[in-house]
Amino acid sequence: MLFSFSALQALLLAFFAVRTASIAIGRNPNDWIAPYKRGEVLQDIVTWDDKSIFINGERVLLFSGEIHPFRLPVPSLWPDILQKIKALGYNCVSVYIDWALHEGKPGDFSAEGVFAWEPFFDAAKEAGIYVLARPGPYINAEVSGGGFPGWLQRVPGVLRDNDTAYMEATNNYVQKISEIVAKAQITNGGPVILLQPENEYQSFIDGFPFPNFNYWDQVKDQYRKAGIVVPFISNEAYPAGYITPTTEADIDIYGHDGYPLGFDCANPTVWPDGKLPSDWWNTHLRLAPSTPFSLVEFQGGAFDPWGGNGFDKCLSLLNQEFERVFYKNNYGYGVTIFNIYMTWGGTNWGNLGHPGGYTSYDYGAVVDEMRLVNREKYSEAKLEATFLHSSPAYLVADRINGSTSWTTSPDIIVFPATTETTKFYFTRHTKYNSLDSTSYKLHVSTASYGNITIPQLNNSLSLNGRDAKVHVSDYSVGDFNIVYSSAEVYTWKKYNEKTVLVVYGGPNEQHELAIEDTSEGYGSAETIEGSGVAIAQKTGYTVLNWATSSERKVVKTPSGLYVYLLDRNEAYNYWVPATPASYGQGSLIVKAGYLIRSAVTDGTTLSLIGDLNVTTPIEIIGGAPQGLTDLQFNGESLDFKQDDAGVVTATAEFKKPTISIPDLGAVEWKYIDSLPEIKADYSDETWPDADLEKTYNDKYEQLTPTSLFAGDYSFHSGSLVFRGHFKANGQESSLTINTQGGSAYGHSIWLGDKFVGSWEGNDVTTNYTSTNTLPNLSSGQDYVLTVVIDHMGYDENYVVGEDEMKTPRGILDYTLSGHDKSDVTWKITGNLGGEDYVDRARGPLNEGALFVERQGYHLPAPPADDWETSEGPTTGISAAGVGFFSTSFDLDMPDGYDIPLSFVFTNETESAYRVQLFVNGWQFGKYVHNVGPQRSFPVPEGILDYHGTNWVGLSLWALEADGAKVEKVELVPQAVIQTGFGKVENAPLTKWEKREGAY
Ligand code: GAL
Repeated sequence: MLFSFSALQALLLAFFAVRTASIAIGRNPNDWIAPYKRGEVLQDIVTWDDKSIFINGERVLLFSGEIHPFRLPVPSLWPDILQKIKALGYNCVSVYIDWALHEGKPGDFSAEGVFAWEPFFDAAKEAGIYVLARPGPYINAEVSGGGFPGWLQRVPGVLRDNDTAYMEATNNYVQKISEIVAKAQITNGGPVILLQPENEYQSFIDGFPFPNFNYWDQVKDQYRKAGIVVPFISNEAYPAGYITPTTEADIDIYGHDGYPLGFDCANPTVWPDGKLPSDWWNTHLRLAPSTPFSLVEFQGGAFDPWGGNGFDKCLSLLNQEFERVFYKNNYGYGVTIFNIYMTWGGTNWGNLGHPGGYTSYDYGAVVDEMRLVNREKYSEAKLEATFLHSSPAYLVADRINGSTSWTTSPDIIVFPATTETTKFYFTRHTKYNSLDSTSYKLHVSTASYGNITIPQLNNSLSLNGRDAKVHVSDYSVGDFNIVYSSAEVYTWKKYNEKTVLVVYGGPNEQHELAIEDTSEGYGSAETIEGSGVAIAQKTGYTVLNWATSSERKVVKTPSGLYVYLLDRNEAYNYWVPATPASYGQGSLIVKAGYLIRSAVTDGTTLSLIGDLNVTTPIEIIGGAPQGLTDLQFNGESLDFKQDDAGVVTATAEFKKPTISIPDLGAVEWKYIDSLPEIKADYSDETWPDADLEKTYNDKYEQLTPTSLFAGDYSFHSGSLVFRGHFKANGQESSLTINTQGGSAYGHSIWLGDKFVGSWEGNDVTTNYTSTNTLPNLSSGQDYVLTVVIDHMGYDENYVVGEDEMKTPRGILDYTLSGHDKSDVTWKITGNLGGEDYVDRARGPLNEGALFVERQGYHLPAPPADDWETSEGPTTGISAAGVGFFSTSFDLDMPDGYDIPLSFVFTNETESAYRVQLFVNGWQFGKYVHNVGPQRSFPVPEGILDYHGTNWVGLSLWALEADGAKVEKVELVPQAVIQTGFGKVENAPLTKWEKREGAY
């Protein structure tokens, strides 16, 4: 049914009739089959109480990482990220879904190819990872429009409100995407256990009737009616208390977000006073005492704007120390739904980002943009997540307020979490950002031995600078009770023949651990490896006291408990690999190196899958079958030894591959001008007329006789070109023009073939008025202005009522001296076809307005025979304009390795130019030389064909009169990882075909 909802809709229909067979913005929700009645219990697999969720009746800690599959258009690499997250000890991922990529044109929903979700859900299940689905429709996420497709600029009424036009605009997407998500719900055997409707719905303009629960109800109903049965969770940006189970929002589980150190990465060593959340526990009790304490987004890094500081600095700010202090603070408050934003950030390829960010969305996350796991914060996160999953008491312990009375030092504060037996002491500096080394003794309170001040044997404990600890008492390790431990627990496992406990401390710290042991022969615990462990017997328990050092120490009790006392840096090398397709933890404890992905035991065969960056000793300290006959690493049998305690040792050899990467300075390039518009014989006859008398944009005033807002003409990405025709009268001394493209955008203007001027752009300016002197024109002659404007994406729509997403792109105003504005008639183009985008494989946003993009010359195998042969982008172009350099080369990368490659630009001179990097047709870089900061553009395998011919295209837009050249661009390997991951399938690398009607 074609559903027309307003006169404006009808207008739109007529307007787009030429290019568009039918436009149906959404459907009436009442048309849907509604299996759902409010208040019904929809499923009983995912339930919750005040402490945690349950899955199939079992309490579960959700330790979750945020990832956005759409930021990597190579579905065959999604399992790689999921496995790396599972290896961290996480059991969940949270994913946003970006509406703008699925419904580029109203009514035209598409989730095929790289945009399909089924492969992702399958991969999550296979990796043993639950999914929290966050389909919006509004998501923020530093994506263009915050996930709103560009055509929402034309929707009358307030966005993110129950305005009929807005609700109807969302219907089609919500229904279609929900059908996909619904199939992947746990009730249908899939991994999806929770859904978050909307996003951070708590900011609104002054005077706005808010919160609008009517809207909220409708959003929930849309999902329920489309078959979503899993619980809903909210994510307020801060604990505002609007979207809770007890307000009219009636959310199932209340959650909020937290980015305590913010996003200014300029001073990565500065932790300002007062940034550590200090009242979250009491706030939780006030707002949602009946649901688990949920941090639906907690800071895992930071975004970085154009001209920003670069992700290295964000990584330093939000590093392993940040994880220790801030995450452990959250554990102190009892978080049991904990999602870390971002855990892998990815790439804003193909114009999907908002104007507040550049191509990289690395985020300084634990897994880097290239999917490498060599950041220390990855290892720290693994220690923490693995500990919590090894500690079931964590989920049920009561939280009490923090106090400095738990230690002998007022400079140390402890947040205890207590059960009748097990207690956790979340310990940090009272002044959270202190850099001091503080000595203290801790008062633990034990069930059988009363209060004990530890260490008992020796010295004190110490907290060195930005650190936090989780001490424990009455911590059960299988059949053993650890009376207390100041050393932090990594994990433990009980096997038939022995129990293994792994603990660690920071470098050169004193620690003490006591094991309750009243069995026969107790008291004769012995150090079986390393030295320096003082062992003393107290009534009922054995005390171990030691200083951590790089030398590993292992103590064995007569009853079969093996305690590994590690230095934290050593602990980083330990893994608890799971078997594929199991949501739980694995049972093996393996010391290895770079990455262990999974482990499968089959009889007396043990098979590890992992990655190496060097030759690595492997040691399985627990869980290998007795009498192991075959130890495989990535399918190859290794020589190994197994000792009496079952410990297996072997070496996995790193074999250095030979790789050959083309020298982009030496390959042959082809060149074609990409601004034919400025040539005298160029005809724009077939271009869309910019003749809409009144904009559809209800938020921004139109100052020109016809709308020159690109969104009115269905152009939403990359760049825009306008052509302004007029007849001269000889009085045209100047052109004043106000353009808008978002942060870091630029514009360039030509009159006929004469360059008139550019706005070169900077990090903050989103629109600019330039006054340009024009040459003398001949009265009575026809002239044409060509205006090229960069489109940096749409603004997000954070504050309800502001409708910031509707901020137009294009020409806002102009004055041509000696003329009425209406003397100029305009044509406009963005990507060829606008919302009827041509390249269905690469989606609605990948292309912009440049001639080469309209023709599809950025795609593999363009018709370049007639193009000039060139030495490449380093030759540059000699005048303001746009040129396109294209080359191709073969890659034959070795199998069994992950060798991420980046295109690296040199930037030593000042010159205003903009480059788009196309790799096999996929836009994987927008480089603004005079703004920065990004110079290195990773392009994943699968976009680069590692076993075939690759086509690289660089569009070079020179904004200065004397042109520009790329100083240098190189293809550089970023790491050589021997991987057990397996083959990567290419994304669709569809080739150039002649585009009918391309102008
Ligand atoms: C949150 C928002 C996310 C993302 C994040 C910053 O407020 O929910 O979508 O924008 O901030 O990276």
